Amino acid sequence: MTASSESLPGVGRTALGVAGLRAMESRRPDRLFDDPYAQAFVEAGRAFFPEVPDSAKDKSVGALFYAHVVVRTRFYDEYLLRAVAAGCEQVVLLASGLDTRAFRLTWPDGVRLFELDLPEVLEFKERVLAAESAAPGCVREAIPADLREDWSALLLAAGFRYDAPTAWLVEGLLIYLSHDEATRLLTTVGELSAPGSRVSFERRTNNRNGLAARVRAMPSASGLTTLWKGGLGSEGPAWLAEHGWQTELHVQSVLAVEYGRSAAEFSDGGFVTAVRS
Ligand SMILES: C[S@@+](CC[C@H](N)C(=O)[O-])C[C@H]1O[C@@H](n2cnc3c(N)ncnc32)[C@H](O)[C@@H]1O
Repeated sequence: MTASSESLPGVGRTALGVAGLRAMESRRPDRLFDDPYAQAFVEAGRAFFPEVPDSAKDKSVGALFYAHVVVRTRFYDEYLLRAVAAGCEQVVLLASGLDTRAFRLTWPDGVRLFELDLPEVLEFKERVLAAESAAPGCVREAIPADLREDWSALLLAAGFRYDAPTAWLVEGLLIYLSHDEATRLLTTVGELSAPGSRVSFERRTNNRNGLAARVRAMPSASGLTTLWKGGLGSEGPAWLAEHGWQTELHVQSVLAVEYGRSAAEFSDGGFVTAVRS
């Protein structure tokens, strides 16, 4: 693989940070998932984007995010597999970053999976996956897009069917969008969702001990927190309920214990999943 002349935009760098944490987890004998490509992203990132901090080496910010990312990854793995078992024929990862679920999860026949992220991120991702000879276990389309703009035409042009139930995942994105950008994105998700479609994303609370508040208090995290625009804040579940979705809340500390991990790292935040009626 040759070096790219492009550099990763600020938000794109966060995808490398998450891959670093997934690589750490994948090395554990008691891992909650195995991402066989995460380390390859870390190594390629070090070679081509040396200016991007290594999340695995950052003992302060990386340590705060580790438990969150690990439980989040496992929870969304299960959410997506349950959604396709319940009849969703399409999976859309909005802000897929360096997520390798298309490659590492076992998908039923016929599932089509669409990944959307910024062009620089997907270009890097495709090059690393090609160098690793990675083969997806489903039909996969990677679609370069700025999710603050109108991305629905790109998705439809890539073969997305709005009459087929879809499992949407919005993992680690909303906080990087303004309130208007986040509601526009979720409005588009609703418009493209046939009955039985599902959506999931992180559920933040206003708890002063929550992850976002603790990261904000950390001076070494200022490069990251300046990228945060708030998204829907704590309003995500209520917004979904008001816009045609039946919601369910999932508490991250409870999930951590179910997965055999400590609840100590978590406050009352977690995830929302929702079904389109
Ligand atoms: C924290 S990472 C999460 C990536 C992935 N979901 C995961 O958990 O590994 C945030 C991702 O959001 C993407 N992102 C942020 N703003 C975006 C935008 N306006 N359009 C497309 N992608 C965006 C970044 O490129 C990055 O891949």
